[in-house]
Amino acid sequence: MFNRRKVLLWGAASAALCGFCANVPARADDVVKIGLILPMTGGQASTGKQIDNAIKLYMQQNGDTVAGKKIEVILKDDAAVPDNTKRLAQELIVNDKVNFIAGFGVTPAALAAAKLATEAKIPEVVMAAGTSIITERSPYIVRTSFTLAQSSTIIGDWAVKNGIKKVATLTSDYAPGNDALTFFKQHFTAGGGEIVEEVKVPLANPDFAPFLQRMKDAKPDAMFVFVPAGQGGNFMKQFAERGLDKIGMKVIGPGDVMDDDLLNNMGDAALGAVTAHLYSAAHPSQMNKDFVAAYKKAFGNRPGFMAVSGYDGIHLIYEALKKTGGDTNGDKLIEAMKGMKWESPRGPISIDPETRDIVQNIYIRKVEKVDGELYNVEFATFEAVKDSGKTKK
Ligand code: PHB
Repeated sequence: MFNRRKVLLWGAASAALCGFCANVPARADDVVKIGLILPMTGGQASTGKQIDNAIKLYMQQNGDTVAGKKIEVILKDDAAVPDNTKRLAQELIVNDKVNFIAGFGVTPAALAAAKLATEAKIPEVVMAAGTSIITERSPYIVRTSFTLAQSSTIIGDWAVKNGIKKVATLTSDYAPGNDALTFFKQHFTAGGGEIVEEVKVPLANPDFAPFLQRMKDAKPDAMFVFVPAGQGGNFMKQFAERGLDKIGMKVIGPGDVMDDDLLNNMGDAALGAVTAHLYSAAHPSQMNKDFVAAYKKAFGNRPGFMAVSGYDGIHLIYEALKKTGGDTNGDKLIEAMKGMKWESPRGPISIDPETRDIVQNIYIRKVEKVDGELYNVEFATFEAVKDSGKTKK
């Protein structure tokens, strides 16, 4: 009793000495800091929310200590504005002395931080953005999300092989939309398909109505759509309002437009959409069933592909730290990440040691009703797909 009291008193005294901190903090060199930059507000906020949730879930499940180091995540909202990303990354590196920067909801944000990661020699873990060139912009960039080339090449081949001859395209007018369009077109036209209409829609707050009319007028066998995560709900609402579902317009594309996060509220107009993508909440593995159940329990809704990209991003950071024994030297961490392989809720994945980009299965899925809810039901798998969209090999 006496000893316990003494210990308690010592604890209280040291806390008082510490002054502003109620709990005795871990020493600075026992803490690993992750600067997490995400769009928590604005048009891409659903991406930020999914990734932030998934990281919280992972840390709940796996603890917040790795290789003897306490993991501290510092979340900053850049609203997907690259000038904000750059300023926040700078502050996190200089003031907070973070050991990683991570997140990045859109391509311009990931690119804005690339030079800073190189200068600071710390890993930039890209958990959302999908343009192929990103990993070429710094030897410190590693990606756990996807590239648009991975899914668009595959849906291009699938379309020609499945009797689709004429396609009208609708893509967001920025880098990943241009990648989606380029790689789809390459594969679709190489197989004999024809592009009968091509429209690009603004990234910010797009009004799809006039563009949807052009899709209708072009009378294609299907329309190819890329809009970033977060916009699929609004897109499908306008699609249905203009009666495109009633005339039997087929939607194909990378799976971003059918993000599980929003899919169940899209209504029956989404039924039958065929997309190629990295993740479906209906992926039938036990690991995914557990992941979906835990995510739903914690946050009340299903995880989408951005959630799984965040979950794998934090896993990569944990595993790299285990491999270096807690050493936060950026070069050692990047070396540790290269070639790493693991089982994700999306299926087996790895980090390409040459490009530091993700290698993953791409699934072809169709929107169907399962137990009264809309899901992307996978029906074909392309294994271990690498990014094919790099400018240099
Ligand atoms: C991107 O900006 O790279 C991006 C964002 C959301 C997506 C795909 C790509 O769904």
